[in-house]
Amino acid sequence: MLKDSDRIFTNLYGFESAGLSAAQKRGDWKNTKSFIKKGSPWIIEEVKTSGLRGRGGAGFPTGLKWSFMPKPEQKGDKPSYLVVNADESEPGTCKDRDILRHDPHKLIEGCLLAGFAMHAQAAYIYIRGEFYNEASSVQVAIDEAYEAGLIGKNAAGSGYDFDVYLHRGAGAYICGEETALLESLEGKKGQPRLKPPFPAGVGLYGCPTTVNNVETIAVVPTILRRGGEWFSSLGKPGNAGTKVFCISGHVNNPCNVEEEMGIPLKTLIEKHAGGVIGGWDNLLGIIPGGSSVPVLPKDVCDKVHMDFDALKAEGSGLGTAGIIVMDKSTDIIEAIERLSHFYQHESCGQCTPCREGTGWMWRAMTRLVKGDATIDEIDDLLSVTKQVEGHTICALGDASAWPIQGLIRHFRPVIEERIKSFHEKNAA
Ligand SMILES: Cc1cc2nc3c(=O)[nH]c(=O)nc-3n(C[C@H](O)[C@H](O)[C@H](O)COP(=O)(O)O)c2cc1C
Ligand code: SF4
Repeated sequence: MLKDSDRIFTNLYGFESAGLSAAQKRGDWKNTKSFIKKGSPWIIEEVKTSGLRGRGGAGFPTGLKWSFMPKPEQKGDKPSYLVVNADESEPGTCKDRDILRHDPHKLIEGCLLAGFAMHAQAAYIYIRGEFYNEASSVQVAIDEAYEAGLIGKNAAGSGYDFDVYLHRGAGAYICGEETALLESLEGKKGQPRLKPPFPAGVGLYGCPTTVNNVETIAVVPTILRRGGEWFSSLGKPGNAGTKVFCISGHVNNPCNVEEEMGIPLKTLIEKHAGGVIGGWDNLLGIIPGGSSVPVLPKDVCDKVHMDFDALKAEGSGLGTAGIIVMDKSTDIIEAIERLSHFYQHESCGQCTPCREGTGWMWRAMTRLVKGDATIDEIDDLLSVTKQVEGHTICALGDASAWPIQGLIRHFRPVIEERIKSFHEKNAA
């Protein structure tokens, strides 16, 4: 269990004010200037040492990602940008929301330090349109930071000029994909770009850009204050640090909680979420990383640990760490069908396998919910998921395929039973 002294988000539940003076009492903005004075290579090395992997879903090493940004002598007159992904639209995920509304100064300070490390002139925080109150909280924090001289010209007395802007999206899941987000920021339709070129070469307004998740950036000041080795001493090798987990669904006490990476899933749910409704034996399955990752059946949930590598080894993923708990009252086919509908609705329509495949998969899923299908159609559906996965411009295609693959992998007998009983009832 994570010790209170190792907690980064000490105001996650909003028991204290989100304002600057309260944030400073919690330790934010302390010695910021001294980290900038140590230089960009020092910051990047500390972040590499920490073992921090991106908290937006894919788990890419953060220090390495920053090192792809061009150095001042390489980029000529072009500015560089840090873009913070605060689009948080993945079903089951609500961690960034609490950081944005209760601990926004950690994010703003993180923007300055990360932005300086990657030689950026400004940060754009792209926040989902539905987060009205959260956007207000972040804007207040930005205004306070400007007022106190912590950002803007000679930010925090460091001699470095750095601006932070907040941009509200209009509520599209696909705008969380980093290149769709950049298109949207530029005022265009939020449709993912083909890569390469990658944003570190050609990003926002054609300039070098790094896109990072809110939680990734918000943990950076504490990593620099306490040292990369402190962060890497938490969690497991390759899966370091603390993580904000979101626990929802059939638990007694749904919550967000910061814990060590690699904590057993069962411990996480029993210690922090009051356990599964009706007890652990009433568990049917869990989606461990937001709606895009495959569901795990109870026997895997009994022993799996919550980190990138352990969940990958079980054929699922840590994703956003949005844990959706389903007890035995759940119609698992209908639950996954609902997710298929979500992906069909959110596809930007740009590439054929996703545009056509998401609709095809959803319609097949609606038939499986009723059982109005043949047993062969289960394999047909699986085959369509494989034709979508890995064949699209962005990972929304994969995200639409994986929940169905998880369902078929672990719950095929339930689907077959549904089909058989439908035909028995409708015989004659
Ligand atoms: C369809 C789709 C939606 C996404 N939504 C989000 C999101 O809401 N927030 C986020 O941080 N990353 C999201 N991502 C991942 C981003 O593309 C990107 O990998 C991430 O912001 C990188 O930040 P990190 O390196 O700090 O994890 C999404 C990806 C896809 C394919
Ligand atoms: S995979 Fe889907 S959401 Fe992504 S670019 Fe293609 S059509 Fe758009």
